[in-house]
Amino acid sequence: MSDQANAASMKEKAAAAALSHVERGMRLGLGTGSTAEAFVRQLGERVAEGLTVVGVPTSERTAELARSLHIPLTTLDETPELDLTIDGADELDDRLRLVKGGGGALLREKIVAAASKDMIVIADASKRVATLGRFPLPIEVVPFGLGSTLNAIAAGSRALGLDGSLTVRQAADGGSYMTDGGHLIVDAAFGQIAEPEALSDALHAIPGVVEHGLFIGLASAALIADTDAVIHLTSA
Ligand code: A5P
Repeated sequence: MSDQANAASMKEKAAAAALSHVERGMRLGLGTGSTAEAFVRQLGERVAEGLTVVGVPTSERTAELARSLHIPLTTLDETPELDLTIDGADELDDRLRLVKGGGGALLREKIVAAASKDMIVIADASKRVATLGRFPLPIEVVPFGLGSTLNAIAAGSRALGLDGSLTVRQAADGGSYMTDGGHLIVDAAFGQIAEPEALSDALHAIPGVVEHGLFIGLASAALIADTDAVIHLTSA
């Protein structure tokens, strides 16, 4: 099996494991990214067989996929409290701290996860790290004042001993990548983040930062698939 086919099969396995946590009548948060898409496709099959659930998508991309599969959708305005969110991650550590936002949907992903009683992360084993930071940290910022915001991010992170390039994400057409909320993404290549909580606080203190991709205290469990098995990590 090619590496790509192997990774795809691990994502399917993690998604299938997550599906066994879905119960009739649940209000679900539907994540974004290739692993979350594998879950949404499998959920669509169960809905076609008669499972009744309702979902809040974390991106326009996921909304479109869910609609094409006839998964009933709602919003957090109509349904402010959710039972379970299933989403992927770019990285996770053994304390279930995550880096998310590689797909640019971190703001809606975080709002939806925070509105959910539980969040299960689904991932292939390559996403599990001892220390967060191998994957550049996505930081969502408003376009206004970008130069000042970049300076503030650099100063705030340097105070925590973190250095590294800050890159404004580009779209495929060469323009700036825009999130569903009309913001920019700065990818911060800090390297190992020894104190994610302190970095989270420092970034939240910057006015131009809308949100960042460190998810701390949100995931209740992770289902991590490797070639042989699906490992179940919990936050307890
Ligand atoms: C989307 O913004 C991200 O947070 C994704 O959840 C994350 O990038 C994982 O995506 P993959 O499942 O495609 O690796």
